[in-house]
Amino acid sequence: MRSDDHPIASEAGMEGSEERKVVVITGGSGGIGAEVARRLGARGHALVLAARRQDALKAVADGIGGDVHTVVADVTDRAQVERIRDEALRRFGRVDVWINNAGRGIARTVLELTDADVDDMIATNVKSALYGMQAIVPHFQQRGRGHLINVSSFLGRVPMASIRSAYSASKAALTR
Ligand SMILES: NC(=O)c1ccc[n+]([C@@H]2O[C@H](COP(=O)([O-])OP(=O)(O)OC[C@H]3O[C@@H](n4cnc5c(N)ncnc54)[C@H](OP(=O)(O)O)[C@@H]3O)[C@@H](O)[C@H]2O)c1
Repeated sequence: MRSDDHPIASEAGMEGSEERKVVVITGGSGGIGAEVARRLGARGHALVLAARRQDALKAVADGIGGDVHTVVADVTDRAQVERIRDEALRRFGRVDVWINNAGRGIARTVLELTDADVDDMIATNVKSALYGMQAIVPHFQQRGRGHLINVSSFLGRVPMASIRSAYSASKAALTR
């Protein structure tokens, strides 16, 4: 089946003139990702929510109702990010918007930072976004459309060197 033949891809639209989108949100099990999901779900968009905690994902999806697909995945693993894309395409036939939202902070001085802390900042905040972009942008290029959103932070623009240096550096990598 061609992706454009998929039922959801052929829907004319929703209420008003808003076009129904298929939106992938990493880190959809809580915080900002879950709230974005609730707001988009309330507007009728189809959602793919990915995170590690299955119960939390299910709770968010159940609260939204509608067309929500959940994927248990760790975004620090390239193969698991590719699986998020594959499940989204299998379920909805296309992806319109991909939000690299999963991430985490750390508050530790430079003298306290361990190798594991820095590796985790890079893996969770930087490599996850790289994997997401590399997974979905070829699909966008093939379709000639699509939106990619990387969730950075104010601290990526204005570093807080005292205790947020590693986090600021990881978010600066996502900031134009
Ligand atoms: N909160 C703020 O004030 C703020 C400000 C600026 C930017 N941000 C950025 O906004 C994004 C969301 O932040 P938040 O405050 O909503 O954080 P949060 O409440 O801690 O939620 C983080 C989300 O990311 C998921 N996640 C973390 N590591 C993951 C991994 N390895 N694989 C898959 N999912 C993972 C978590 O789900 P699981 O635990 O289920 O995996 C959770 O759904 C982050 O990128 C953060 O840096 C936040």
